[in-house]
Amino acid sequence: MEGFRYQDNELYCEDVALHELPEEFGTPLYVYSKNQIIQNYRAIEEPLKDLDHVVCYALKANANPAILKILAQEGAGADVVSGGELYLALKAGFPPSRITFAGVGKRDDEIEYALKSNIFTINAESAQELQVISRVALRLGVKARVTLRINPDIDAQSHPYITTGLKQNKFGIPAEEAVGVFKFAATMQNLETVGVHAHIGSQITKIEPFVEAANFLTRFVTSLREAGMPINHIDFGGGFAVQYLNVLTHEALPVEPDNAVVPPLRQYMEALVPVLRESGCSVWFEPGRSIVANAGVLLTKVLYTKENGAKKFVIVDAGMNDLIRPSLYGAYHQIVPLKLQTYEHEHADVVGPICETGDFLARDRVLPKSKRDDYLAVMTTGAYGFSLASNYNARPKPAEILVNGDRVRVIRERQTIDQL
Ligand code: LLP
Repeated sequence: MEGFRYQDNELYCEDVALHELPEEFGTPLYVYSKNQIIQNYRAIEEPLKDLDHVVCYALKANANPAILKILAQEGAGADVVSGGELYLALKAGFPPSRITFAGVGKRDDEIEYALKSNIFTINAESAQELQVISRVALRLGVKARVTLRINPDIDAQSHPYITTGLKQNKFGIPAEEAVGVFKFAATMQNLETVGVHAHIGSQITKIEPFVEAANFLTRFVTSLREAGMPINHIDFGGGFAVQYLNVLTHEALPVEPDNAVVPPLRQYMEALVPVLRESGCSVWFEPGRSIVANAGVLLTKVLYTKENGAKKFVIVDAGMNDLIRPSLYGAYHQIVPLKLQTYEHEHADVVGPICETGDFLARDRVLPKSKRDDYLAVMTTGAYGFSLASNYNARPKPAEILVNGDRVRVIRERQTIDQL
């Protein structure tokens, strides 16, 4: 099943022609395919069947409650990074025993909330944080299960803003100090150290850095055991890449220049499972993007087209407040019309209504020619799309729709101006 495809020159999400949605629900509008989400989750689960494992969905990618419910029902665990995400995960029905709490800056009240909720583990990122967790646990009279996040100094070769496993990044405990911090943790009251965690980055298109991280963690667990610290839990993080270019192909669409080949998930897993199995640990994964990115699109309306000197601009009603990835990371999202009406292409920037030059969805792009009132879909925006949306320029946040077969459901109402 493809979540999104052209049929008779019209873009469909499952069995729904997308051009039918803007009239009823307005734009900008996020639309998600329920069955694509399920398929993505199962594609991660399946190659892991010979490994003792839990797939924890990273809520930061998209924390819409309806999407969380789908994944909780599929049996996923949850990776949360704030009290807010923990609240949403519990409300959606993720069992506390399958929840892990990461993040470099947890407040005391968030730690207290995690301990009271009896989640499986808090991933601590420094010796100082361990002291705080121990203090809060002591006050509550509970034992805190902690996992230590190690910074393995591995280059994920991704965008610098989303590379997290290098020495110069703020995340984790430096590898060379890690054994010492484990020993320190063992001396602390009300703490039980259950595991070791690493997350080296996001949108990682190469398999080698992952294999390097898996080898690092497996060796590290062995050295901890040799030092008398029996560890049975590895949290391997997330970061699997998805395809952003040429997601849809059609004779009326330009072919996008693609030099970033993304390996299929199965290939990542086939390389990782044998290494991780060696550790004898239960291995948790924290994928976000690979579960929801290609299950979502952002629909937007062309407001104006204009030429300034040599440049052509297609001005649409979705801006960097609705989708910040192009502005923040120079990220590439394929942009296609909901109705293919022409074989004519044009060279243009697709820009939003925000008062910033950095407010663009595509730059110097070859696109099917568009005109005022056309509708476009910005592809592969199910992850880090709505979840990074803001009210900048006092713009209400967009609505979100879930498609299941031919059924359409509003899973978040459009914000109204009186909610600003
Ligand atoms: N675990 C931890 C500890 C993380 O920090 C992240 C992502 C994940 C799991 C999930 O990674 P994923 O499987 O989604 O790659 N806003 C950026 C991505 C930021 C990722 C932050 N951490 C973007 O739009 O590309």
